[in-house]
Amino acid sequence: MLQGKLVRLRAYDRKDIPKALEYINDAEVRKFLMPGIPFPLRMEDEIKWYESLNPFSKGEYSFAIERLEDNEYIGGCGINHVDWKNSRAEVGIFLGKPFWNEGYGTDAMKVLLNFIFNEMNLNKIYLNVYSLNKRAIKSYEKVGFKVEGLLKQHIYREGLYHDEIIMAILKSEWK
Ligand SMILES: CC(C)(COP(=O)(O)OP(=O)(O)OC[C@H]1O[C@@H](n2cnc3c(N)ncnc32)[C@H](O)[C@@H]1OP(=O)(O)O)[C@@H](O)C(=O)NCCC(=O)NCCS
Repeated sequence: MLQGKLVRLRAYDRKDIPKALEYINDAEVRKFLMPGIPFPLRMEDEIKWYESLNPFSKGEYSFAIERLEDNEYIGGCGINHVDWKNSRAEVGIFLGKPFWNEGYGTDAMKVLLNFIFNEMNLNKIYLNVYSLNKRAIKSYEKVGFKVEGLLKQHIYREGLYHDEIIMAILKSEWK
């Protein structure tokens, strides 16, 4: 159920912590992530995050992304802000830089959407992405996300202001 063509989604394991820290603390990865995660993230913080994961929560998931060919942990994705009344949730994803541009992110997002639409039975999935993140935008478009809104000059990165784009996909648009 949680397996695509290139990756599977699985529960996080304590042994993923050092790699997760390495991927998240890479400035190239971090510049694309939403604020809120301290930088640089300390091992203690990552352990606290890991220990805060709650398998009994109603719909908030954090999945580790594992490459099928060698079972290597390559990144993570998650479901946040689940709103059962309005039948929607937010998603997020990151991969370690060595694993970019190989199709893993698009495959992982397909698996995640399939889970949300066909198991959780939600109606809408949305995310926020910075306009400088062309790779992510392309990947989301390939999965079927469409632009719904734009927050102009919302984020300052590397000496420039960038727009923040809101993208979403409805269950009726998901094949
Ligand atoms: C965003 C992310 C999950 C995408 O996963 P990925 O495995 O790298 O993406 P994929 O290889 O599946 O697809 C990327 C697509 O973007 C294209 N692309 C790459 N760089 C690009 C650029 N500068 N401009 C336009 N398209 C670009 C690739 O060619 C590919 O399209 P194609 O398959 O049609 O050739 C991953 O790159 C990542 O984790 N980045 C850092 C963290 C991040 O940005 N998270 C998302 C925050 S919103």
